[in-house]
Amino acid sequence: MTHAEDARGSSDLLVVANRLPFDLHADGEWHHSPGGLVTALEPTLRARGGAWVGWPGLQDAEPEPFDEDGLSIRPVPISADEVAAYYEGFANATLWPLYHDVVATPHFDRSWWEAYRRVNERFADAAAGAAADGATVWVQDYQLQLVPRLLRERRPDLRIGFFLHIPFPPVELFAQLPWRRELVEGLLGADVVGFQTAGGAENFRRVTTRLTDASADDVPITVGGRPGHVTAPDGRTITIGAHPISVDAADLEAIARSDATVERAEALRHELGDPRTVLLGVDRLDYTKGIDVRLQAFAEVLRDHRLDPAETVLIQVATPSRERVEHYAETRDDIELTVGRINGEYASIGHTVVHYVHQATPREELVAFFRAADVMLVTPYRDGMNLVAKEYVASRPDGGGALVLSEFTGAADELGEGAFLVNPHDLDAVADAIVAAASQDAEEGRRRMGRMHEQVLEHDVERWAAGFLEALGVAT
Ligand code: ADP
Ligand code: G6P
Repeated sequence: MTHAEDARGSSDLLVVANRLPFDLHADGEWHHSPGGLVTALEPTLRARGGAWVGWPGLQDAEPEPFDEDGLSIRPVPISADEVAAYYEGFANATLWPLYHDVVATPHFDRSWWEAYRRVNERFADAAAGAAADGATVWVQDYQLQLVPRLLRERRPDLRIGFFLHIPFPPVELFAQLPWRRELVEGLLGADVVGFQTAGGAENFRRVTTRLTDASADDVPITVGGRPGHVTAPDGRTITIGAHPISVDAADLEAIARSDATVERAEALRHELGDPRTVLLGVDRLDYTKGIDVRLQAFAEVLRDHRLDPAETVLIQVATPSRERVEHYAETRDDIELTVGRINGEYASIGHTVVHYVHQATPREELVAFFRAADVMLVTPYRDGMNLVAKEYVASRPDGGGALVLSEFTGAADELGEGAFLVNPHDLDAVADAIVAAASQDAEEGRRRMGRMHEQVLEHDVERWAAGFLEALGVAT
């Protein structure tokens, strides 16, 4: 046995993601944070002695690998300096704004790029050490775009997939990146590269031929249709597909239908003072989410007496996120100032107009919020998918409610027919959509919601995972 074979592991299917499905807290306790991805993949992962390679979420921590119900957890340590340069820097102050239409100005810093490369190598080493001979490895998201190539260099026997959860920008924006060629070559180390939308997949295919020596076909890429193909300079063919991610729709629907949720939703409306209209926003506190535009539009609707402040409540739940990154801190200040102003102007003693919650909220409580809301506001300037929109729709088996949805989300491709679609840069259009959604005819509303509900129930996260794995050649 060669040294390289010595280092091989026993997992036939691996997920490699920046975060593990568990967070390690400073007190040494692990907290389970199961996202849609782990829920969707759990059965397949366990059946195949699967492994999850990722960061425990705490800087400088070096916990030992462990097994959880047949799932092997492989922590990758990241130092405090690397958190600043790789995670807060290159991933979230360079790539995140660049890939989201330059909504904020991306910052280019050579030392951040070095850290990104170093941390990506560490992830590739960890995956190479855990994968069995001929295993399948599925790499996730923008934090790890160099991993496919680095992993192929270490383990040419592996089948490698990559899925980007955020938008892939047009070449005109992507080309700003000083390290653009290395990133594209990193992704071309995969056998299958997947995107949320057909547009993102086509942007990437165009980038490969413009910025590297690869060649490509030009068939239109469609969801559920034919993928595109790129031929790398080494002769390998890479499949480029559109695979819109989704939510665990049946589970959300079951929570939404439960007596406990129905009662909680009623109690919530009562606690709010039994208003005629409840509007809701649920987001990570991120400048791409358009929380500012929805607050401004809401304020104008009240100012112009299109909705009565005494009869209307907006709940904005904003999870703390990436708080040491400058743009995030500024966005939080702006939002909190605006919330204060709206309440100063339109609230009265005993009646708050905007309820602002800067906290993570348990899933059951979120679903109760969804059920209690007449109008859900999803107004990002750009978003790869926006799972909140789909969670809202899945949580409304009663057919009630209305969705105001930015046309610049991946979700708009699928929910466009039932939602009140809006350009979030157009303040008047957002205000009009809020009023239209709040005053829709009940029968028409049920038709709209019914269409969207059916779409999300049918195209759930399990189907998404199975579709991507099938493209990779894994039977589920
Ligand atoms: P992003 O991935 O950019 O954060 P998505 O809308 O696609 O945006 O996914 C966000 C996920 O985080 C959803 O599953 C949503 O339910 C969850 N989430 C958002 N805000 C909260 C909150 N305050 N508490 C708990 N979960 C939240
Ligand atoms: C988005 C990204 C994920 C990321 C999540 C939370 O959904 O696509 O990769 O994990 O936001 O952000 P965080 O920086 O806290 O991991």
